[in-house]
Amino acid sequence: MKLLFLGDVMGRAGRAAIVSRLAGLRSSLGADFVVVNAENATSGVGLSPGHAEAILSAGADVITLGDHAFDQKDMLQFIERETRILRPLNFAKAAPGSGARVYATASGRKVLVAQVLGQVFMKRPFDDPFSAIDGVLKAQRLGAGVQAAIVDMHCEATSEKMAMGHWCDGRASMVVGSHTHVPTADATILAEGTAYQTDAGMCGDYDSVIGMEKGEPMRRFITGMSKGRFTPATGDATLCGLFVETDDKTGKATAVRMIREGGRLSPSA
Ligand SMILES: [Fe+2]
Ligand SMILES: [Fe+2]
Repeated sequence: MKLLFLGDVMGRAGRAAIVSRLAGLRSSLGADFVVVNAENATSGVGLSPGHAEAILSAGADVITLGDHAFDQKDMLQFIERETRILRPLNFAKAAPGSGARVYATASGRKVLVAQVLGQVFMKRPFDDPFSAIDGVLKAQRLGAGVQAAIVDMHCEATSEKMAMGHWCDGRASMVVGSHTHVPTADATILAEGTAYQTDAGMCGDYDSVIGMEKGEPMRRFITGMSKGRFTPATGDATLCGLFVETDDKTGKATAVRMIREGGRLSPSA
């Protein structure tokens, strides 16, 4: 199976790139299943139902969220109706929606998608992501109940993401990081067959500070004072993510490739 994961869609620039270019990228890769992280798609904070529908219509099979899952309040109700959107497994206990689900591809193959939040350097304390994902991977065995499994590890620390990759190794087709908005150059297949990248990077304008217009974040770093709000940068976005090919019998990865397309980042080969 061919799986594509795209990192955090950032504001209008990220949405515009998804709407205008995801279908072409999907068909040029021959992707069977596409997951897009969209926790920052609406003004950089959260995801509105309308923007979720636009991203799904553009070619995403599933949307994952993150620590910004419910920054747009309408998502609290919408996620109960739209099963193609996942919030983190280990979000607040009372949160609506689900953190893991099994989906079917057009050809009927089953794909598990799950998202967990890390604990290191995050603004709020979340439950242990390692035990949370363990239960899901034990219930949905790769190569048995599901033909592929995609885990989105949403957090700051590279160390915590790498540990999650190894924790899921051989039990997921792909473990990919999101949240930092900068792609790491470490796409690999781990020892037991799980494709891994510490962070997919964002789908956004890289002439920015992690997707925001440079002025205000620079002012806060340089002067220690804020003058205005953060607003997403509006230049042409780079689509960033990870493309993985799997063996349908085992669900393990046979090939992995980083994707960087359009915008200011150097393109992937
Ligand atoms: Fe993000
Ligand atoms: Fe995040």
